[in-house]
Amino acid sequence: TWSSVPAGPPDPILGVSEAFKADKDPRKINLGVGAYRDENGKPYVLSSVKKAEESIRASNPDKEYLPITGLPEFTKNAAKLAYGEDSAPVKAGTIAVTQSISGTGALRIGGAFLGRFYPHAKVIYLPVPSWGNHTPIFRDSGLEVRGYRYFDKKTVGLDFEGLKEDLRNAPEKAIVLLHACAHNPTGVDPTPAQWQEISDIVKERQLFPFFDMAYQGFASGSTDRDAFAVRHFVKEGHQIALSQSFAKNMGLYGERVGAFSLITADAEEKARVDSQLKIVIRPMYSNPPLHGAQIANTILSTPALYHEWESEVKGMAERIISMRERLYNELTHTHKTPGEWSHIKSQIGMFSFTGLSEAQSVGLAEKAHIYLTKDGRISMAGLNGSNIDYFAESVARAVKG
Ligand code: LMR
Repeated sequence: TWSSVPAGPPDPILGVSEAFKADKDPRKINLGVGAYRDENGKPYVLSSVKKAEESIRASNPDKEYLPITGLPEFTKNAAKLAYGEDSAPVKAGTIAVTQSISGTGALRIGGAFLGRFYPHAKVIYLPVPSWGNHTPIFRDSGLEVRGYRYFDKKTVGLDFEGLKEDLRNAPEKAIVLLHACAHNPTGVDPTPAQWQEISDIVKERQLFPFFDMAYQGFASGSTDRDAFAVRHFVKEGHQIALSQSFAKNMGLYGERVGAFSLITADAEEKARVDSQLKIVIRPMYSNPPLHGAQIANTILSTPALYHEWESEVKGMAERIISMRERLYNELTHTHKTPGEWSHIKSQIGMFSFTGLSEAQSVGLAEKAHIYLTKDGRISMAGLNGSNIDYFAESVARAVKG
């Protein structure tokens, strides 16, 4: 029956984890997938998460189905976290929001909703480069995927002029995907002033802004500061779409907790949008998983846990920043690696876009048991005091050839 099914390639990101698992060398390092690791290279379960789980267990909860759009308290609190308590649409109750299977699921619901109801040309512009899963998510949602310039290889920074030109030349009312903070894979974000300009162009061209916020808190250590772009756009009157993930900032990767929201014009429009979100979701997976949403909601709604969580997010962000500092020093001073490496320090969030070529990136796996994606992206969170020397030394060797 399946004789004509062609073998597909491994996933560019999750395939790296598979290769890492199969490697038996004790020196091996996985810098592929963006998953936080502690100072000992171990997965990290946040203390606020453990406490939330204890309190959930103590309340002896049942395992009933959630509604199609998820746990209502969770989605309300997730929206507050993203938009801010004082945001006009939060206060007016005009945000249509649903729980999702983490960030990917939120993007997929958003893609499907836009694919079905967006009343203009169904074209979405993604930054070049973008997270590897964005293109297939939106393509599978029936949207036409195009790119806008984002990363400048020469400056290893933002190609702001290219970005502006491409957005100005996009057809009116096109959809534009924006990474809210900690751009994946480059670690390069617009400044607040640049966001303001982007917002103006989006307004001029009447583009539809779809924000992907998978790293709130991870860029600066502050969930408020990282929400700047989203909140600025909302203040400017854009009716945005937003995908949120709690995988990284609460370390809830496998629990699959996220949210998708759309700002609507008024309560009546919100009710119509809510009803269609349900119709989009029900045939996909019926309703979302319970446990992760309970954890996230317990943290978001319990002041002491919220406070503890905020400091844990900050702690994770700071450990990554200290690894950036150290990696820069090792590459530049200890190993005199040819090239300019200051971008390692200036980039933001979980990733660094090292500038290593595909051959060098693949070579690191083959020769040094160090796994990263082929585009030269490394998850900074995979580095720690015990493996960073070996990593820097291996990169220096790869660059020197
Ligand atoms: C990543 O980019 O590594 C993460 O967003 C995890 C994933 O699902 O790809």
